[in-house]
Amino acid sequence: MSKYSRAQIILHWAIFILIATQFVLHDTVVDTFDAMLSGKPVLTNHPLVSAHLGVGGVIGILTALRLWIRMETGIPEKSGNYPPFFDYLANFVHYSFYALLILLPITGGFAWYQRSEDAANAHSLLRAILLILVLVHICGALLQVFVWRNNVLKRMWRSNN
Ligand code: HEM
Ligand code: HEM
Repeated sequence: MSKYSRAQIILHWAIFILIATQFVLHDTVVDTFDAMLSGKPVLTNHPLVSAHLGVGGVIGILTALRLWIRMETGIPEKSGNYPPFFDYLANFVHYSFYALLILLPITGGFAWYQRSEDAANAHSLLRAILLILVLVHICGALLQVFVWRNNVLKRMWRSNN
């Protein structure tokens, strides 16, 4: 296998779009949650709040599905024309993504349903780590394309099956 499967590619880009939505549309859930904690009257079923909770849950489920597919079918062999250290870093980032995208909905759910400020702090910390790792991930992809000149982007774009 030299490329990811169609299912892996669709899930990768679908989750990417859903995460971007979570980051762009987070203001209402933050304001509503803060108001809820300070006992002010709030509209807890505001569409943007429901969207954040719903999309977040879907990200968690799709990530678990993706991890299962990875365990069942594996991933393409590495192209190999880069320093071995880079492989460790890439694996670390990829596994961290799976962990973060499962922990984010769990901490978010605890924060919202248990009114837990600690869980909300954990949720904020995790999303900050996610943001940093996404930047590292994108830099890694660009390095491979422009410095090591391999076909890494094609592996995550069109599949053979
Ligand atoms: C992977 C899925 C998720 C992502 C990427 C995500 C992302 C975010 C982001 C970027 C914020 C703003 C944090 C800040 O500005 O400090 C936020 C806040 C929040 N999210 Fe999520 N979220 C996810 C899932 C969920 C789920 C499933 C729930 C609830 C069921 C949830 C509940 C909340 C709450 C209550 C806040 C406000 C917390 C606060 O004000 O500190 N999130 N989320
Ligand atoms: C929220 C943003 C993103 C997340 C959470 C994410 C997550 C992941 C994960 C977990 C993998 C490893 C898949 C596996 O082996 O199981 C992966 C691979 C990959 N991602 Fe992303 N990704 C994101 C954004 C992007 C972007 C913007 C690009 C394009 C620059 C990109 C390009 C790639 C490529 C080319 C691979 C294959 C790497 C390889 O074959 O070694 N990703 N991504």
